[in-house]
Amino acid sequence: MILITGDIHGNKDISKLDNKLNPVYKEMTKKDYIIICGDFGLVWDNGGEDKWWRKWLDSKPFTTLFIDGNHENFDLLYEFPEEEWHGGKVHRISDSILHLMRGQVFDIQGKTFFTMGGAESHDKEYRTVGRSLWLQELPSDVEYSQALANLEKCGYKVDYVIFHCAPTDIQNEIAEVKQNHTYSENRLTEFFSEIRPKLEYKRWFCGHYHRNYVSSIDPDFEILYSRMITLP
Ligand SMILES: [Fe+2]
Repeated sequence: MILITGDIHGNKDISKLDNKLNPVYKEMTKKDYIIICGDFGLVWDNGGEDKWWRKWLDSKPFTTLFIDGNHENFDLLYEFPEEEWHGGKVHRISDSILHLMRGQVFDIQGKTFFTMGGAESHDKEYRTVGRSLWLQELPSDVEYSQALANLEKCGYKVDYVIFHCAPTDIQNEIAEVKQNHTYSENRLTEFFSEIRPKLEYKRWFCGHYHRNYVSSIDPDFEILYSRMITLP
């Protein structure tokens, strides 16, 4: 079983992962997965709270996979050991918590997933670099070229796309729906806009916008927040 949901922001929005709340969890084991579309936030300072909640996740009947959002401590995240896992690269945070790195294609339970975390913070003026804002929130040249190389390898065909932010046109659509919100386009949203017409996919999921929403531009494009999707 593979489930996908939106941001958890440390323990702030983690209750959706509480197995007491969802009957489907009763059928899950560590061979099943919940994927979080960024803003994991439990690699924040490696303090007691991070560790307590990571242990809590480890005690649950599923394996936690996450892509990075913008609200992550990237300096700490990149210190965790890197390994090959199901065809792509991950950081191993614990026995059953893995960070799916950027520009990777994973084969999980016979389905392929293209992952690319990161987004631009829209509250940068209230944040401090190295304490609450990290410049790695947007991908590096190496990560972009790795993404392109891996897309070439799979012939631009995957089952699922897992990103934190959306392509520019869909991001503009969300800004309109949310009203009084502006999201700036950047190299990452433009990169997603460029690859979307070339990419064959069944469903495309992202987080970041703190809303559950299906795009009217593309009905296969879904933004997740509290909603939990069970893949067929
Ligand atoms: Fe978020």
